[in-house]
Amino acid sequence: MKRTQLTLLFLLPVLLAGCGAPVAVTEPTPGAAASSSAQEGASAQSAQSSATSQVTQQTWTMTQVAEHADAQSCYTVINGGVYDVTSFANVHKGGAEKVLALCGKDGTASFEKKHGGQEKAVATLESLRIGTLQ
Ligand code: HEM
Repeated sequence: MKRTQLTLLFLLPVLLAGCGAPVAVTEPTPGAAASSSAQEGASAQSAQSSATSQVTQQTWTMTQVAEHADAQSCYTVINGGVYDVTSFANVHKGGAEKVLALCGKDGTASFEKKHGGQEKAVATLESLRIGTLQ
């Protein structure tokens, strides 16, 4: 009788510790995985945008941009970047005329008013970049 009680007393803490252990081990895993993949996404994105800017370093004067002021060749300046929006105008969801209105001039105010802070519009614009205003 006494030996059985002693054995149970000895085993009780071991059993309790055994029950608690798996919870402590499994809890941190999902959070850690999510934050690590978010970081990978961010660095992939910055690598992509720096690759894009490396091939589009031509400098333009406003006079040169102004030579592309119609639907045949439409360049615009937005926030100091120069963009060839000729082909894009025809597929613009808001209508070609909205984009063509920016040809040959600084379109920053119009673009920002409609699309400022919109990730998709900003990404589309960056894909059309041909350089920087002098
Ligand atoms: C070169 C400059 C521009 C670029 C790259 C651009 C890009 C875009 C993109 C990607 C969309 C589709 C958004 C979506 O599907 O969620 C869009 C829609 C639209 N854009 Fe533009 N845009 C430009 C200039 C403008 C300007 C100057 C205006 C107006 C003054 C304008 C008015 C609109 C409107 C009305 C839509 C329809 C959908 C909405 O209301 O968001 N866009 N644009």
